[in-house]
Amino acid sequence: FSISGDCFVPNKIKLVVCKDSSAAALDAAGRIAVIVRERSTPVIGLATGSTPETVYAELVRLHREEKLSFRNASTFNLDEYVGLPSTHAQSYRAFMQAHLFSQIDVLPWRTHLLDGTAALPALECEAFEKRILAAGGVDLWLLGIGGNGHIAFNEPGSPVDSRTRIVALTPETIAANSDGRFFSDPAEVPRAALTAGIATIREARRVVLLATGAKKAAAVAAAMKGPFTESCPASLLQDHADCTFVLDEDAASLF
Ligand code: GLP
Repeated sequence: FSISGDCFVPNKIKLVVCKDSSAAALDAAGRIAVIVRERSTPVIGLATGSTPETVYAELVRLHREEKLSFRNASTFNLDEYVGLPSTHAQSYRAFMQAHLFSQIDVLPWRTHLLDGTAALPALECEAFEKRILAAGGVDLWLLGIGGNGHIAFNEPGSPVDSRTRIVALTPETIAANSDGRFFSDPAEVPRAALTAGIATIREARRVVLLATGAKKAAAVAAAMKGPFTESCPASLLQDHADCTFVLDEDAASLF
């Protein structure tokens, strides 16, 4: 469907507010673990950024200490920087290897990330969508949120029916990712990325958006309480049948 301008939809987003960021991460990890245990061939959508790092640490702990097995799981990551090979420390492939894949029993060929060095990005994006379909669709997609309300690299203005594609990053997102946590100089940050689209994400059977810290409070409040609008990509989850925002108290402070 299409939208013209901002509109209001029945807001079905469920809200969980945890006392701090660790508790929020444990909650999100627990939701992923339920799917991994329940489904015979679980399909999990993953995110990068600082926020999910603790989620992945908890999944590794569950694997080591509580026998959580990813042997039959497939994973799909939201996005990847254009031009960064998987060997680059700041590629999202390298991030996922370091924080999760190398520490659990997921089979390497079932971990799907877009290839930011693909010669034909449009074909790479189309193939990614096909791989999701072939896996039977995503059971649960874990998301973060940008300070401007972006999800994956869907910046404000991303169409609700957008699919996996190449996008330009906004100066705000380039700045947020060059504050020393990942890149230390904006000039080092790629200007473009491949990203799952809003429609790609909305098709996941379950969505869990994890946001922690006061820096995310305005974006979370706009997504939850504002109109359903492409100006705030996360608001486009409002009519999803099974979407939960897992927040800490700081991220929920503008409610
Ligand atoms: C990047 C990623 C997003 C992520 C966002 C917030 O832009 N592409 O998927 O949600 O950063 O990241 P952080 O958790 O570091 O604030």
